[in-house]
Amino acid sequence: MNTETSFSELLIDPLAQPSRPPSTTVLMAEPTYFDVEYVINPHMAEHVGGVDRDRASRQWAALKDVYEGLGLVVEVLPAEPGLVDLVFIANQSFPTQPIEGPPTAILSNMHAPQRRAEVPVVARWLEARGWRLVSIEDEDTHFEGMGDVNWHPGRRVVYGGFGWRTTRNAYSHRNYEVDAPVVALELVDTRMYHLDTCFSPLDEHTALICAEAFTPQSLALLEASFPRLLRAPLDEAVGLLSCNGHCPDQRHFIVQRGASRTNQLVREAGFEVVEVDTSEFLKSGGSVQCMKLMLD
Ligand code: ARG
Repeated sequence: MNTETSFSELLIDPLAQPSRPPSTTVLMAEPTYFDVEYVINPHMAEHVGGVDRDRASRQWAALKDVYEGLGLVVEVLPAEPGLVDLVFIANQSFPTQPIEGPPTAILSNMHAPQRRAEVPVVARWLEARGWRLVSIEDEDTHFEGMGDVNWHPGRRVVYGGFGWRTTRNAYSHRNYEVDAPVVALELVDTRMYHLDTCFSPLDEHTALICAEAFTPQSLALLEASFPRLLRAPLDEAVGLLSCNGHCPDQRHFIVQRGASRTNQLVREAGFEVVEVDTSEFLKSGGSVQCMKLMLD
């Protein structure tokens, strides 16, 4: 019996899937205790103890202002002493946007033991606001929330990264219940360890990617899903996390400043680039996309 899944079986036409309303609300986590204390990705290696917290707080507040300036509501999760990576609020959960019923989130089962205590903090915040929570608890199934998953803009299709943090089997776990098919994408470069470090969907037709982060088959899936794929140069994707920007409205792209070639590509494709400085957070391997959670 042939157990291989053929390429055509993996193909999904995003525009044939039901539509999804635009995001209105993001969650950010206060950066009060943000630091680089351990090394769980290559970006952190040179920076243990090297964070300027005042500068980080100013950069975080400026990013919050940008979201509010674009008309989004920003909710804020209070900081927790000791949880230095909690500020990367994309990682502890995945709000699944069910078609019916209460707001629901899948809680992460973090790969790095150093980050596991962040999950109950986010869970309590969501629970207090009436969210239904589901857990992925198996020891051999890791899942890092919206660090590794993202929506097709305006459509009920999910892209799910795996390979470094999230394991492939997360997407077949009994509690991975999402009203949308998942396009699973394998990541191969340890510097781009989460899907959000190498993939930023911009509008229904366009995504920004770093091609070197994906297996050839995963790249082919992306090519089939987005008629227009903008390819960020590897040095900017790795050095400035230029694919870790966020386009909340299919129009504005909020991104680390200074990635001039990537940002020019995005501009030429018709988007308005809004540059911010997240240099303190880059020391930990995170930037804009990691610093917010899309609650809807
Ligand atoms: N230091 C954090 C880690 O390695 C950074 C996480 C960045 N978040 C993201 N969604 N890429 O886990």
